[in-house]
Amino acid sequence: MTMTERPPRTAPAGPSVGRPIDRVDGPAKTTGAARYSAEYPYPDLTHAALTHATIARGRITGIDTAEADAVPGVLAVITHRNAPAMRPAPSFSMLDLSTFASGTSVNYLGTDEVHWNGQPMAVVVAETRDAALRAAALVRLSYEELPATVDFAGAEKDARPQKNSALQSGGATKGDAEAALAAAPVSVDLRFTTPPHHHNAIEPHSTTAAWDGDRLTVHDGTQNISWLRRHLALRFGVRAQNIRVIAPYVGGAFGGKTMVWAGTLLTVLAARVTGRPVRMMLTREGVYRTVGGRTPSTQRVALGAGRNGRLTALIHTSVTQVGRVGGGPEQVTSQSRHLYDVPNILLQQNLTELDALSNTVMRAPGESIGTFALETAVDELAGELGLDPIEFRMRNEPERNPIDGKRFAHRMLREAYALGAERFGWADRTPRPGSMRDGRWLVGMGVASAYHPSWQFAANVTVRLSADGRVLVRCGFHEMGMGGATAQAQIAADALGVPFEAVRVEYGDSTLPTGPGAGGSGQTASVAASLLTACDKLKGSVLALAGRSRESPLRGRRSSTLEARDGGLWTGPAGESYATILARAGRDSVEAAVGSDTRLGAMTGQLRFMSKFMLDRRRWVKAACGAQFCEVRVDPVTGEVRVSRWTGVFDVGTVINAKTAASQLRGGIVMGIGMALTEETLVDPRSGRIMNPGLAEYHVPVHADIPPLDVHYLDEPDPTMPLGLIGVGEVGITGAAAAIANAVHHATGRRVRDLPITLDKLL
Ligand code: MOS
Repeated sequence: MTMTERPPRTAPAGPSVGRPIDRVDGPAKTTGAARYSAEYPYPDLTHAALTHATIARGRITGIDTAEADAVPGVLAVITHRNAPAMRPAPSFSMLDLSTFASGTSVNYLGTDEVHWNGQPMAVVVAETRDAALRAAALVRLSYEELPATVDFAGAEKDARPQKNSALQSGGATKGDAEAALAAAPVSVDLRFTTPPHHHNAIEPHSTTAAWDGDRLTVHDGTQNISWLRRHLALRFGVRAQNIRVIAPYVGGAFGGKTMVWAGTLLTVLAARVTGRPVRMMLTREGVYRTVGGRTPSTQRVALGAGRNGRLTALIHTSVTQVGRVGGGPEQVTSQSRHLYDVPNILLQQNLTELDALSNTVMRAPGESIGTFALETAVDELAGELGLDPIEFRMRNEPERNPIDGKRFAHRMLREAYALGAERFGWADRTPRPGSMRDGRWLVGMGVASAYHPSWQFAANVTVRLSADGRVLVRCGFHEMGMGGATAQAQIAADALGVPFEAVRVEYGDSTLPTGPGAGGSGQTASVAASLLTACDKLKGSVLALAGRSRESPLRGRRSSTLEARDGGLWTGPAGESYATILARAGRDSVEAAVGSDTRLGAMTGQLRFMSKFMLDRRRWVKAACGAQFCEVRVDPVTGEVRVSRWTGVFDVGTVINAKTAASQLRGGIVMGIGMALTEETLVDPRSGRIMNPGLAEYHVPVHADIPPLDVHYLDEPDPTMPLGLIGVGEVGITGAAAAIANAVHHATGRRVRDLPITLDKLL
């Protein structure tokens, strides 16, 4: 089967939904016509660059800008001595979710305090980027240094339990897991470590900012236009309505562009100081120094089972890092609440505070590294029991959510393993480690479960139908390369019964109805929910128009009877079409809206959405899941690991676009391969300085590292989600590192529990 052929579907597929349609933004990107945030021309444009602190904690005692000022083309060197005050970062409030957007609590250039090694302490503005970068490197800072805690390994002992919040819990207990573990005839009790990771989007964080009096235009590759706009309004003391954020193209993000980081704020500040438009494109090093990454972790996973292969105890605890100036818990034990039917469970996440930049969300924050530990431990226990790791998992597959007995909205993990095993050829595996060879290569096969919760956010959407049959969907959502606009055009086309080509989607601009953030794999479902409602409203309006005319055969029919499947209105039942109805009514267009962007409308919309969302979460456990199958080849002499084959089968509900969904899942797996084998941010334990801030020394996988990835989905709708769709952005990375670690063990007999699995650990 190729990726465009799929098993028969029960999803409400239409002529457009489900098809592998090429991305609508593809031509603009491949021809270079797409404009990214650092590519907007402005007359009088200036360029900015940052000077970073080189100590982890202390105060600035001296700033010498003489050499920097002398660089030709330099217009300003802005430091805490001459910068206008920005308002402080807001503290978090459930009433205004944009308060979540503060990357750190530091008031940049409003203080002489240094909070991490790399904090921006000066901004240089110049006529060219080269001049700005050169001058920024010539700003001399002297410090009074204070003692700092920068070594995660050393700070692990000071970790405190994470508190529960409305949206995230720090732990859970059921039964007595420690006692059950002690009593279990077969058990494992293991410690895992994972290093910090960074996002490494192709497009480094970039901002172009232009003030016009009290009005501000910002081009910024953000994952959350509305949070960014609100945050800038708060920090610069202007009305949000006076700020326009433009972000039609985002060159990858993976979570790193969710919060508002120093580069964005300081570009806006520099534009205010100089009175000219300012562009700042961070260097790759600048991204590492000023944008948070994934936390390092230590994890304990202990499992106990009876000789019948039924789990009796599951303990999963973790320590992760936050910065003293920000960052948050990562839900490392999240999947351990849901994956196994165990009578005794103990989960606890702990946090330790460092004098370091805030950690932040990165593709499947929590589950990416949490599944590594859990799914490796499960493999180890299966080995102890002498059971096939898939068979062991199937014996412990729950009917209801293990921790609280809630229903699963959707759960097809058994089917995912069955299809995956068949496609991958799992039956050819001989169980004994080291028993499979291909010439000099040791061959290993491993599996692991993927799991990622499904999220939904509020989204305002308008849909307009013109008399010529064109449809315009408007929503300020984000296109980071996932195919979001294409998917929404497919959904609108089927909902209205028009051809895909008739639909245009506008996104990526704060002048549009407020969209959801692109996060938590929730954007497509969030926009779809409102879009479907808007399309229903629109059809209702068209029918009402038709009903006013005695000649219309549609008189008296309800919109719900006019499904796209029936040919919709475009081809027109009884000879009617949108065009004839609108023409008869003398209308150029009809529009329908969901949600409102007035102050009151936004507030009530958010409240209504949140109460529905929380109610839904009390009833259902919603998630994507899947089965990852990996084959590795290990060179017994050098310890080199090559991933040679991959099959991933995913339960992601209805697939809207067969091509873009598969790409998202593949991308997740590629990132999982990086996490397993090469990616590691190295922090000097004495100074807290990141020592490999760039692609030369932080190794992401390249093409030669990736075999063809065989990706499939089960394509059964989740009945609780709009159109039955579950997000696909993050589940692909989960379980991937464990599948590789398990395959490496199968090949070599060696267990590596500390990522990445570099060759030195296998020698
Ligand atoms: Mo993500 S870490 O939800 O971009």
